[in-house]
Order: sequence, then C-alpha cells, then structure tokens
Amino acid sequence: MCSGSFAKCLGVSLIPLAIVCVLCNILLFFPGGTTVEKEQITEQVWYFGGILGSGVLMIFPALVFLGLKNNDCCGCCGNESCGKRFAMLSSILFAAVGVVGAGYSVIVSAVAINGGPQCGIKNGTVISWTYPFENGNYLTNSSMWPVCIEPSGVVSWHLSLFSVLLVMGLIQIALCAVQVINGLLGCLCGDCCGCCGGSDGSV
Ligand SMILES: *[C@@H]1O[C@H](CO)[C@@H](O)[C@H](O)[C@H]1NC(C)=O
Repeated sequence: MCSGSFAKCLGVSLIPLAIVCVLCNILLFFPGGTTVEKEQITEQVWYFGGILGSGVLMIFPALVFLGLKNNDCCGCCGNESCGKRFAMLSSILFAAVGVVGAGYSVIVSAVAINGGPQCGIKNGTVISWTYPFENGNYLTNSSMWPVCIEPSGVVSWHLSLFSVLLVMGLIQIALCAVQVINGLLGCLCGDCCGCCGGSDGSV
C-alpha cells in the first residue's frame, strides 16, 4: 500500500474517535445524566480535553491525512517529488498537532480520574458540594462511592466517560505516531502510487 492510501485509512479512523471524544466531554457536563449548577460540574470537564484536544484539534490531522491520497503525487512548482515530500512532511507536522491535542485530553482525563468527581455529600442535614475523593482512593474501593448522594450515579458516570476519553486519546496518539513513521518513510523512500498525468494512484 502506498503511504498516501495508508494515511487515508488513518484519517478515516481519527474522525469517529474524535466524535466519540466530543460526545463524552458533552455528556460529562451532565453528571449522572442530570443538569447541575455550573459550579457543581467537575473542574476538569471545563478543560475541554475531549472537545478541543481530542476533537477540534484532531480535525486538522484527520483532514490532512485524508487529503494525502489525492495530493501526494501532484507536485509543487512542476516538481512532482517536491510536492509529494511536502505533503508527507506536512502530514508529520499535523500528526504532531494531533499528538499534542490527544495528549492534552489524556492528561486531563488522567487527572480527572485520579481526583474523582465533584458531588453532593451529606453534611449534617444539608448537602454540600465537594470533591470527596483524593489520589484515586475510590478506584479500588467502590464502597466509598455512596458518599456521593447527588447526582445519583455520578461516580460511575465520571469514571466511565473519562476512561473512554483516556483510551480514545491514547489510540489517537498511536495513530498519529504511526503517521509520523509512515510520513517519514513516504518522504525518504519516495513511496508513491501513480503521479499526475499518470495512473490515478488508486491501489
Ligand atoms: C473502603 O471504604 C470504606 C468507606 O469509606 C472504608 O470503611 C473501608 O475501610 C475501605 N476499605 C479499604 C480496603 O480501604
């Protein structure tokens, strides 16, 4: 497979991952599936790791990778190989953008999983909102979860959505890293399927 087609596969895979990350981040604004006050939403949700990092920033590498299949051999300034190399080189730069975006989302998710959600706990007769967990202590001891009485199911909501964000971010990083290698090989080896005026380049 030529490097442009392979990049296209990577680009196609990045898009559903980005959509899932945006959706997870949006759902995190509704802890336990309910609406709460702005100040009651867990702080890390506001860092927009899934929406900006794994979502919007991922659109750029995805589109560039998708475009490589058509552009990788069309040359610049009448110089076929210059254009292909430039396209592969830019795909490496955009892959780096993707790694930064997904890396941001992974770090935010890891911090959020470690810190646990903000929730309402019983404080005498009133409910006060706080972060009852620390250093991931609730991860290994689910008998601590009922400390959060409001909103119901907030701990599993928080944990599962941030876990999905973490895993998706790691997959995005892996895909972008693969494209760095693929792009380098494409640049160095001049691996190319058909050029302008030649075959259509499809495999
Ligand atoms: C788990 O949490 C409960 C409630 O806070 C506590 O009583 C118990 O000692 C904890 N168990 C472990 C193994 O830490």
